[in-house]
Amino acid sequence: SRLQKVKSMTFKEGQEFKVRIKPDEDCNSFAINIGHDPENIALHFNPRFDSGGDTNTIVCNSLSGGNWGEEGRESSFPFARGEECKFYINFNMEQFYIKLPDGTMMNFPNRLGEVKYQYFDVSGGARIVGIKIK
Ligand code: GAL
Repeated sequence: SRLQKVKSMTFKEGQEFKVRIKPDEDCNSFAINIGHDPENIALHFNPRFDSGGDTNTIVCNSLSGGNWGEEGRESSFPFARGEECKFYINFNMEQFYIKLPDGTMMNFPNRLGEVKYQYFDVSGGARIVGIKIK
C-alpha cells in the first residue's frame, strides 16, 4: 500500500475531475481522497476488490477531524485488477456525482459543504495514470 499525493490543484463546484487509474494485479482496495487535508476528506471513494469484509463493492465516506462518517455503498463494480480505467467526478455544495467506468452514476453527500477542494491523494493498490480538472 502506498500514498500518492497529487500535485497542487483546485477542484471547484461545477468542474469535472477526470481520473485515470490502474489497479495493481494484486489490488485489494484503492481510494481517491478529495478534501482539505488527510484528516478532513469530503469524498473518500474506495473501490474494494477484497478488503474489510467486502468483495467488489465501492465504499464512499467522509472524514471530518479524523472521524469517519456514515458509509455509502454501491454494488455496481466496473473495475478489474490490472486494467486501466477512467471515471469522472463533479460536485456542488450538496452532492458529489461520480460517473463510473461503465457509465453508471453514483452520488455521495458533500458533508464538508465546501465549493472548493485543494487536497487530493490516492492510496492503496493502484497507480495514478492521469488526473485532470476542467
Ligand atoms: C474503514 C477503512 C478506511 C476507510 C473507511 C471508510 O474501515 O479502514 O480506510 O475505507 O472504512 O468508511
